[in-house]
Amino acid sequence: MNDIQSHEARYDCWLQHRDTYTGSLPEETLKKIFLMPAEGPLTHAAGELRRGLEKMFGISAKCGAKCGAGGGITLEIGAGGIPPEAFIIRAEDRGVIITGADEAGCLYGVYRFLALLAQGKICRGMEITDAPTTPIRALNHWDNLDGTIERGYAGASLFFKDNRVEYDPVRIQDYARLLASVGINRLSINNVNVRGPAKRLITEEYLPELAKLAAIFRPFGIRLLLSVNFSSPCSLGACASADPLDLAVAEWWKRRADMVYGAIPDLAGFLVKADSEGESGPFQYGRTHADGANMLAEAVAPHNGIVFWRCFVYNSTQDWRDTGVDRARAAYDHFMPLDGAFADNVILQIKHGPFDFQVREPVSPLFGALQKTRHLMELQITQEYTGHQIDLCYLPSMWEWVMNFDTRHGRNTAIKDLLGRSDGPGIGGLAGVGNVGLDRCWTGHPLAQANLYGYGRLAWQPSLSAQAIAEEWSALTFTNAQAAGTVEKLLLDSYRIYEKYTAPFGVCFMVTPGLHYGPDVEGYEFSRWGTYHRADREAIGIDRTETGTGYTGQYPPENAALFSDTSACPENLLLFFHRLRYDFKMRNGRTLLQNIYDTHFEGYDEARKMRDLWLSLEGRVCQTVFEIVKERLERQLENARQWRDVINTSFYRRTGIDDAQGRKIYR
Ligand code: GCU
Repeated sequence: MNDIQSHEARYDCWLQHRDTYTGSLPEETLKKIFLMPAEGPLTHAAGELRRGLEKMFGISAKCGAKCGAGGGITLEIGAGGIPPEAFIIRAEDRGVIITGADEAGCLYGVYRFLALLAQGKICRGMEITDAPTTPIRALNHWDNLDGTIERGYAGASLFFKDNRVEYDPVRIQDYARLLASVGINRLSINNVNVRGPAKRLITEEYLPELAKLAAIFRPFGIRLLLSVNFSSPCSLGACASADPLDLAVAEWWKRRADMVYGAIPDLAGFLVKADSEGESGPFQYGRTHADGANMLAEAVAPHNGIVFWRCFVYNSTQDWRDTGVDRARAAYDHFMPLDGAFADNVILQIKHGPFDFQVREPVSPLFGALQKTRHLMELQITQEYTGHQIDLCYLPSMWEWVMNFDTRHGRNTAIKDLLGRSDGPGIGGLAGVGNVGLDRCWTGHPLAQANLYGYGRLAWQPSLSAQAIAEEWSALTFTNAQAAGTVEKLLLDSYRIYEKYTAPFGVCFMVTPGLHYGPDVEGYEFSRWGTYHRADREAIGIDRTETGTGYTGQYPPENAALFSDTSACPENLLLFFHRLRYDFKMRNGRTLLQNIYDTHFEGYDEARKMRDLWLSLEGRVCQTVFEIVKERLERQLENARQWRDVINTSFYRRTGIDDAQGRKIYR
């Protein structure tokens, strides 16, 4: 079987079956797996190794205790001097040894060994030591109990249906395997907007079922998290308020935490969205977010639980007439004054940008600035603003840019340097909003699997390049070398192309309100969500420098100066930071308006080339995958056409200025 025939090409993702084993290790070596110790903690890793060898290479191996010095693959725990979850892979003349610092490390070593084997990268004499840079590599599902997924584009929930916990245990195990194979170790399964019956997940009604689910993930080194509603003490009927300083409320949460941990003793903790977009929170009671988070932290502390407290807090009832309010300021304004006020087992969860996962926005000024509060960075893997998994948009390209952002709070303070550092400004991990549903290929668009894979790889090693990840993923997923090479190119071009045909130069939110797919230039312009470009006949953009909303002042002076200066500010963020006339001269000598036209014409043309390139792969990839991707690329092209024409016409109508190259702009 190769991936031209395989119907499972979609389902197996990067753990793809290859036709023949072509590695340089003798096949005999792969037929024996030895465990040290023979019983106990390594049986799961050994089972995964055996399964992987069978599924990926058609090699059946036997597991057993080591006798003598014979070859085979030895799994062992406990090399001194390597950090938790780390592993060493050694390919010696007499066999392979995979040593984990612990159980999880051994499992990660097994998956890496299989991936390297699949890429033909295991050879005798090699030795690899690897450890995750950050301890927390979380995935957040936004699944609702009725089975829908907020911002989900790949079918219904894997976990819930008709207000019940309902799942296919085999599928969940396969999911756990995919996640563990890229190092994800925390998983929240329910939406951060905890509404309706989801509020009762922390009651006896649901806990037994959740405990069973947790048991499936546990051997894969994945601990569950639960999103909880801040007003639970009221909504579950016991208290008159949810005031965090009310002792009865704190007591209620303690008892509740005891109950939840009674069912799931290794629960990683609670994830909370408070005072945001209609969710309740401490502000309702005149309290701070530190009051709210610390009260919950005390409840989970006896169980070694963590409160993941989201900083996505903003007033979503703004008035467009009021130019003094700037939503981009919100997270920093709310949380910076509280630095140091949070308990040790609170981790602030901060979206990577100040807005909301736009195609291009600057990195949140909280990173590098927070010194006395544990925090992590939230990324969005699901393509809410980046094409709904209809359009191809390879997000590691965006994330690489984020990882390389220099916060300029001292030396070596790029985001990738801060990740995993345990001192002041260190970022303790990543949380990614998941892109998976019941769709057979998991992600709707088969190539969107690369975003899930890339997220895991980056969370493990933030300095990995988008290119390296694309190469790895393509080679693991497409066994035909030419297909893999072409797919890698498609991935690497896709984010830039998507950016070109959508909102220009960091202006943000020109999307259809609510849906967030397709263009609507004025869609959010007069709405209460508060993100405006105020484009008129002469100019566009918001002045966020000190002469405007003052947002740039949230960055240290060097970055504030960079962003405030139109001639130094990265051009892809120009309209995020500045209000500019359409005749503003860009670095290529052309006007801003002409650049808007150019990028939109080019974006469409390049999207067409992507489609054509994919068409050249017919017969080289599994036909089912070929057809699905082809259909999506056609829809992407239509979307790009719509963006191109709506944006260009809308600016033509404002300015009355033609395209310098005379291309078609509808009147
Ligand atoms: C965005 C998104 C919402 C989501 C929210 C969040 O606003 O559109 O669906 O609930 O982010 O991150 O909480």
